Amino acid sequence: VSDPTLLRGGPLADEITERVGEAVAKLRAAGVVPTLGTVMMSDDPADERFVDYKHDGCAAVGIDTRRVDLQPDAPAEQLYAAVKRLATDEAVTALFVQVPVPDHVDLARVRVSVPPAKDVDCFSPAHLGAVATGDDPLLPATTAAVRRLLDAYDVTLAGREVVVVGRNPAVGRPLVADLLSDRTPLDTTVTVCHSRTTDLAAKTWRADVLVTTAGVPGLIDGSMLSEGVTVIDVSTNRVPDESAETGYTVVGDVDFESAKSKPDAITPVPGGVGPLTLAGLLRNVVELTAEAANSEVSV
Ligand SMILES: NC(=O)c1ccc[n+]([C@@H]2O[C@H](COP(=O)([O-])OP(=O)(O)OC[C@H]3O[C@@H](n4cnc5c(N)ncnc54)[C@H](OP(=O)(O)O)[C@@H]3O)[C@@H](O)[C@H]2O)c1
Repeated sequence: VSDPTLLRGGPLADEITERVGEAVAKLRAAGVVPTLGTVMMSDDPADERFVDYKHDGCAAVGIDTRRVDLQPDAPAEQLYAAVKRLATDEAVTALFVQVPVPDHVDLARVRVSVPPAKDVDCFSPAHLGAVATGDDPLLPATTAAVRRLLDAYDVTLAGREVVVVGRNPAVGRPLVADLLSDRTPLDTTVTVCHSRTTDLAAKTWRADVLVTTAGVPGLIDGSMLSEGVTVIDVSTNRVPDESAETGYTVVGDVDFESAKSKPDAITPVPGGVGPLTLAGLLRNVVELTAEAANSEVSV
């Protein structure tokens, strides 16, 4: 059995990031400063890391940032006010809210307070609706990352069976909405699985393309995959590992060792979807900024 092709996101992400850098320089030369505002209400180190990662990525390409970090027990009003401030600040051209937020926050209220024109990751209902109707070309970063990998590695989609494990609004739902599009190169038949799905293996086994975003290490093993499948593992789960310097290892949902004899192609974790997601976010900041400034600059 030959080893599967590894669908590496890093080199593809580097290409996008380079183009983002060039576009940012053009915008800045025209007096337009792309600026991402982030709001987080959490003291979970994983959330902090995700937000740090975005700010570092922005800094590397010349995108300015504003950052509001709130403690999880802060009054919900502080979160509403922070989002409103960034939403109405003319210098802020793109806005990102880190989820999850604590239960005492009315997430629906936060979603509608992000203006679609600044919505960098498909957080507002209007933007998700536009992805569902096929009207909006600005895809959320993870959806764009999955699409870019499939495209770059010439994975045919039309008429094929795509199984998505995970239906969360941040990742699975917009991806499914996009995959259902009746535009080329999509036209896929989509099955969506979640934590209440019975006999998951019977569904995953049908997949020509399997995308998993459950956040459950080892959820998918080799017995659940058919020969020749393409596997995109979006999840980046930390599992304790005493032998690692950091004390943990990052793994996806797929048990790589047991699975690797089945797919034609599979994403490594880390190094598959992750780098492309950051590049896609930076790209979306530029696209929103250019659109608001009536600029022709594009990535
Ligand atoms: N690579 C990237 O760029 C990127 C970006 C964002 C997130 N992530 C990663 O993606 C993963 C998911 O994160 P999240 O915060 O979005 O998770 P989440 O909100 O908890 O959503 C997980 C989804 O998977 C489903 N699920 C959970 N357990 C399942 C099971 N045993 N069988 C089938 N489906 C199951 C859930 O079903 P229910 O709807 O029934 O609860 C839910 O729809 C994490 O590893 C995260 O680090 C990666």
